[in-house]
Amino acid sequence: MTNKQLKESYDYLINKGFEAPELGIVLGTGLEQLVGFIENPITAHYHHIPFFPLATVEFHSGKLIYGFLENKRVVVMQGRFHCYEGYSFLDVTYPIRVMHSLGINKLFISNAAGAINLDFKKGDLMLIEDHINFQGGSPLAFKNVADFGPRFVDMSEPYDPQMRQLITSIAQEQQITLRHGVYASVVGPQLETKAEYRMLKIIGADAVGMSTVPEVIVANQLKLPVMAISVLTDECDPDNLKPVHISDILKVSSEAEPKMITLFRELIKNL
Ligand code: HPA
Repeated sequence: MTNKQLKESYDYLINKGFEAPELGIVLGTGLEQLVGFIENPITAHYHHIPFFPLATVEFHSGKLIYGFLENKRVVVMQGRFHCYEGYSFLDVTYPIRVMHSLGINKLFISNAAGAINLDFKKGDLMLIEDHINFQGGSPLAFKNVADFGPRFVDMSEPYDPQMRQLITSIAQEQQITLRHGVYASVVGPQLETKAEYRMLKIIGADAVGMSTVPEVIVANQLKLPVMAISVLTDECDPDNLKPVHISDILKVSSEAEPKMITLFRELIKNL
């Protein structure tokens, strides 16, 4: 990755009309209905944007969409990149750097995750308060990282406290159950064993998924305030573990998505 490449991605999008977005949004697996609320959308397919990685997972359509949400200029990633697809940490986080170069000053992230905390139920939303990076690497571990920001990035408060507070009160007003917890990020794509779920619980995770953490690390390097929500798609009880199919995960996440959309839209109104 070079700044010249980033500039080419930026130039392509600026020429398409991606002018001064204020907010970036990353949509997770099965979470795509938000796209329908974007007004005056302009679409850039990932495979047309210079130096963008290519989307591979068939249920991700792979587009960057610019437009208005609650009268704010937004840029939305429909489909994200995962390490389990064979992408490097640099690939996975490249779009975050591009959205930052376009001018976003806040980032919202969503994902589908398994509930490790068994007080939480399938279909609940969880506000990510903190995380555990279990992906075995960092998106900041490369030679010329200093060309893009500091190397030793502080992670004492990776998720913006102000937005966390705001979305918590919005959830109360809207009578939407919003859990709070720690998200552990693994590579996947296999789901976890009973022994792994037991371990994740012991080390303090409330949810587990295969994304988000690399993007959040890069956002922190860029001093970009982040808010992230997990849709809990299955209950990971090591003492009573049932097989989970990806189609169940997709179904639960799309059923729970309207609640997440409400929270996102209300938060945007209040920013
Ligand atoms: N692990 C377990 N359950 C899940 C995951 C995961 O990574 N993602 C969504 N549900």
